[in-house]
Amino acid sequence: MSTNGRSCLNLAGGSFGFSAVWWSPEHWGLLPTSTLSGSSSLSAAFAPKSFSTLKEGVECMTGTGIQFREVLSLDQATKASLVSLLVRVVNDGAAVGFLAPLDPNAAEAYWARLPRTDARLIVASVGGTVVGTAQVHLAGQANGRHRAEIAKVLVDPSWRRQGIGRAIIAQAEEVARSHGRTTLILDTREGDPSNQLYRTSGWREIGRIPEYARSSTGELHATVIYAKWDEPKA
Ligand SMILES: CC(C)(COP(=O)(O)OP(=O)(O)OC[C@H]1O[C@@H](n2cnc3c(N)ncnc32)[C@H](O)[C@@H]1OP(=O)(O)O)[C@@H](O)C(=O)NCCC(=O)NCCS
Repeated sequence: MSTNGRSCLNLAGGSFGFSAVWWSPEHWGLLPTSTLSGSSSLSAAFAPKSFSTLKEGVECMTGTGIQFREVLSLDQATKASLVSLLVRVVNDGAAVGFLAPLDPNAAEAYWARLPRTDARLIVASVGGTVVGTAQVHLAGQANGRHRAEIAKVLVDPSWRRQGIGRAIIAQAEEVARSHGRTTLILDTREGDPSNQLYRTSGWREIGRIPEYARSSTGELHATVIYAKWDEPKA
C-alpha cells in the first residue's frame, strides 16, 4: 500500500523482536518487544497489529497502511485533515473541550496554534488523511519539568476499535519520555470508552471531579483523572 508517497512495507516487525518503531524528526528508534509488555505500553489487544518501519523512518501498523508520526509543523493538507477530524469527533459527542456542532472555523483556529514546543503533536494517517491524533503538553514550571499531560486523543469515528487509540497513547508516552517527562497525567469524561483504554494501558485512576464539563445537551459530567509515573528507584 502506498500512502503519501511512502509505502507501508510489510516487514512484520515482531518477527525481528520489535513490536513497534518510534520515529519523529528528532527521535527515532526501535522499541524492543520486551519494553512493550506490561503496564506502560501496548496491550495484548494491540500487540497482534505489529509495526514495521519505512525507510524514511515513519512508523506503520503492519497490514493496515496506518502511519504514525510526530509533526513539528502543519502543512495545509494535514491541517485541513485535522480540522475535519476534530469536527467529526466533537459532533459525534466527544468531550474534548468543544461543544457540538463545532464550527470548522473554530477548529481551524485551534489547529493554527499547533504544534508548539510545549505542545507536541502526533498524527496517525492513511493515504494523507489523518485518522487519529494526540498531544503531549510539556509542563513549563520550574518545578514541573518532569511532568506532561496527554491531551486531545482523537480517533475518527469510522476508524475506531482497530488499535489506533492505544498505539497513539503509547507513542505519546514515548514522546513525553523523550523529553524527560516521567510523571504523566490526563483526564477524560466519566463513563466514556476512553476510560477503558486508559485503564488497560497501565494508567491509574487518581480521582474524579464532579460537574466538571458540560456536554452539548447542557448536562454536566464528571471527569476522571489518570496518572502514570516512574516509581523512584530503590
Ligand atoms: C477513546 C478513543 C481515542 C479510542 O480510540 P480507538 O482507536 O477506538 O481505541 P482502540 O481501538 O485502541 O481501543 C483500545 C481499547 O480501548 C477500549 N475501548 C475503545 N473503544 C471502546 C468502546 N467503544 N467500548 C468499550 N471499550 C472501548 C477497549 O478496551 C479497547 O481494547 P479492545 O479493542 O481490545 O477491546 C476514541 O473512542 C475516541 O476518539 N473517542 C472520542 C475522543 C475522546 O473521548 N478521547 C479521549 C479523551 S481526550
